[in-house]
Amino acid sequence: MRCLNLGCGTRFRPDWVNLDSIAHSSGIIKHDLQKGIPFDDDSFDVVYHSHVLEHFPRAAGYQFMQECYRVLRPQGTVRVVVPDLEQITRAYLTTLEKCLAGDPIWRVNYPWMLLELLDQATRNHTGGDMLHYFSQPNIPNLDFIVGRIGSEAKYIAEMAQAQRQSSDARLQGLSWKALIRHRLWQLREFLYRLVLRSDYAALQVGRLRLSGEIHYCMYDRYSLHQLLSDCGFTDIAVCGAAQSQIPNWAALRLDTEPDGSVYKPDSLFMEAQKR
Ligand SMILES: C[S@@+](CC[C@H](N)C(=O)[O-])C[C@H]1O[C@@H](n2cnc3c(N)ncnc32)[C@H](O)[C@@H]1O
Repeated sequence: MRCLNLGCGTRFRPDWVNLDSIAHSSGIIKHDLQKGIPFDDDSFDVVYHSHVLEHFPRAAGYQFMQECYRVLRPQGTVRVVVPDLEQITRAYLTTLEKCLAGDPIWRVNYPWMLLELLDQATRNHTGGDMLHYFSQPNIPNLDFIVGRIGSEAKYIAEMAQAQRQSSDARLQGLSWKALIRHRLWQLREFLYRLVLRSDYAALQVGRLRLSGEIHYCMYDRYSLHQLLSDCGFTDIAVCGAAQSQIPNWAALRLDTEPDGSVYKPDSLFMEAQKR
């Protein structure tokens, strides 16, 4: 079986072909998926991507799924995992109704639900308001957030707390090569600021919006089914995190944690075949 994990981030298997615009490890091919998928037609039995499709504007997402179709062998399986617009919206509405009914616990959860719904699409600075939320010294509802987005929330919270330390303390931990790179970067930014003046802010926003961090689109079981069907896929079905047409899927632990819990509980999991 030849399997492809697109936009793998740090979640990859060494026995698969893994690809991302940021190569976190030597086992990952660095490539921008906006330029297509750099493999021959009909070359994989499985094409998988998790929380990647929503990073493309709708038309680019269609082209990306067409590319997935092209590189998949006939009878191969595509598995697409995205934040589930329907599930998130329903959770938001439930939270809103409980708040309006005066429930104090849900009033604590409300700001998080707004962030979950909107922040990754609307932010203009890296990490967005979510990062700000996670950098609070005492997050009032971390268990609720872990239930919503998975144990990754704990890691993000730790990272955000660490970032609160002064930049001087962070620089002290850098190697001399990294320190030189950092100083050159600071010099370049200083020159940009000098030349661009008030347009420098636009450059920063533009960099972030093109960095791959932003969610440009969201999908539910209807729109994702439609997209897969438009790209020529058949046998399209919603499945669970541990459930798949891919042999031995649950043991691969891509959508589940070692304890069997769901890696990203806010997800919609959908599979389809190439005829
Ligand atoms: C939310 S992370 C998901 C990572 C991993 N699949 C997971 O589920 O944990 C989105 C990933 O897509 C990658 N990505 C976004 N746009 C990309 C592009 N144009 N080309 C390649 N990778 C991209 C990002 O670098 C990031 O690693």
